[in-house]
Amino acid sequence: MFLRKATDDDLELIMAWRSNPLVYEGFYSQTAPLTWEEHIIWWYSRNQDWHQFIILADGHDIGVVTIVQCDNWSPEIGFYIGEVSLWGKGYGSRAVGLAEEWLKEKGYVQTHTTVKEDNKRAISLLKHRGWKRAGNARKGELRFEREL
Ligand SMILES: CC(C)(COP(=O)(O)OP(=O)(O)OC[C@H]1O[C@@H](n2cnc3c(N)ncnc32)[C@H](O)[C@@H]1OP(=O)(O)O)[C@@H](O)C(=O)NCCC(=O)NCCS
Repeated sequence: MFLRKATDDDLELIMAWRSNPLVYEGFYSQTAPLTWEEHIIWWYSRNQDWHQFIILADGHDIGVVTIVQCDNWSPEIGFYIGEVSLWGKGYGSRAVGLAEEWLKEKGYVQTHTTVKEDNKRAISLLKHRGWKRAGNARKGELRFEREL
């Protein structure tokens, strides 16, 4: 399993994944399938501190890891497995592990993420990987941190 940089060629796949209610239920600010306009605006609003990767497993694209705030001493990792039939098989955990490694190799010593407080699967994944709860983020959302 490995991460590759996402490109414009991945826009349609990412649109499809992010429009699945099972997936966007885990996102804080998305409550409906995306429109192309929203998707394109989001894609091109990226800046230099935003790194988006496609997760590859057994030769297939299965999800996304996003690493943002790289100008901060503790960048943020975001993640989802877009192929929902593959949930519960350890892919999410391994993908977060690859993101942790990517940051560690660049010299970062801490990372953080935020998850909705009802996102049991993501919370189990983070705890399993040694992430620690570090208070709250937005309303209904928890902050987790991990030393690298
Ligand atoms: C959250 C998400 C990424 C999890 O992906 P996944 O591939 O199902 O995750 P994993 O299989 O690695 O982990 C899921 C479960 O297995 C457990 N697990 C994984 N590897 C394990 C291991 N080696 N040993 C024991 N438990 C393990 C996790 O702790 C977790 O526990 P649970 O059974 O209580 O749910 C996926 O459900 C998803 O994309 N959700 C929608 C988007 C989202 O919520 N993203 C995160 C917040 S933005």
